[in-house]
Amino acid sequence: MAFTTDRLRLRELRQSDKTQILALFNDYQVQESGGVDYTVPRGDQFFDRWSGWAKGCTLFSILETKDTDPSFIGFAALGMQYSRNRDAEFSIAIVRSEWSKGYGTEITKWMVDYAFKGLNMHRVSLNVSSINQKAIDLYQRS
Ligand SMILES: CC(C)(COP(=O)(O)OP(=O)(O)OC[C@H]1O[C@@H](n2cnc3c(N)ncnc32)[C@H](O)[C@@H]1OP(=O)(O)O)[C@@H](O)C(=O)NCCC(=O)NCCS
Repeated sequence: MAFTTDRLRLRELRQSDKTQILALFNDYQVQESGGVDYTVPRGDQFFDRWSGWAKGCTLFSILETKDTDPSFIGFAALGMQYSRNRDAEFSIAIVRSEWSKGYGTEITKWMVDYAFKGLNMHRVSLNVSSINQKAIDLYQRS
C-alpha cells in the first residue's frame, strides 16, 4: 500500500494550501454541493476552522497529481464521530477544472479500500444531497 493512486499523491494539509482551499470553497457550486452550512464567501476564519476539522480527521489528504510540478486537485478525508464505532465518514471536493477526469472515482476507491484494510474500519458512511447527482454517480460507481 502507498499513499498514491495511479495518477494522484495523497499528502498532509499545509498552511501554504490556504489559497487553493479558499479558491475551492469560493467556487459556489463546490461549496453549495459539498456542505450543510450557508453558502457564503469564505476567508481566513473559515480556513482556520476548517483546518481544525481536517486535523481531527482520522485520515485527511490533500490530493495532487504525481507530476514533478504537482497540480492541486482537492482533498478527501475520513472522519470519525465516535472512534468506538469504527464508522468512517467520507468527504471529498475536487477543483472544478479537474472534474470529469475520473479523479473522484480513483480516490474514492482508494479511500474505501484503505478504510477497511489499513484503518480497520467497520463501515464507511457519507452524507450527500439528493440533488448532487454528480456525487451520487461517483459513490455508486465506486
Ligand atoms: C463530486 C465530485 C467529487 C466528483 O469528482 P469527479 O472527479 O468529477 O468524479 P468522477 O470520478 O465521478 O468523474 C467521472 C467522470 O469522469 C470521466 N472519466 C474520465 N476519465 C476517467 C477515468 N480514468 N476513470 C473514471 N472516470 C473517468 C467519466 O466518464 C465521468 O464523466 P461524467 O461526469 O461526464 O459522467 C466533484 O464534482 C466535486 O468535488 N463536487 C463538489 C463537492 C462535492 O459535491 N462533494 C461531495 C459532497 S457529498
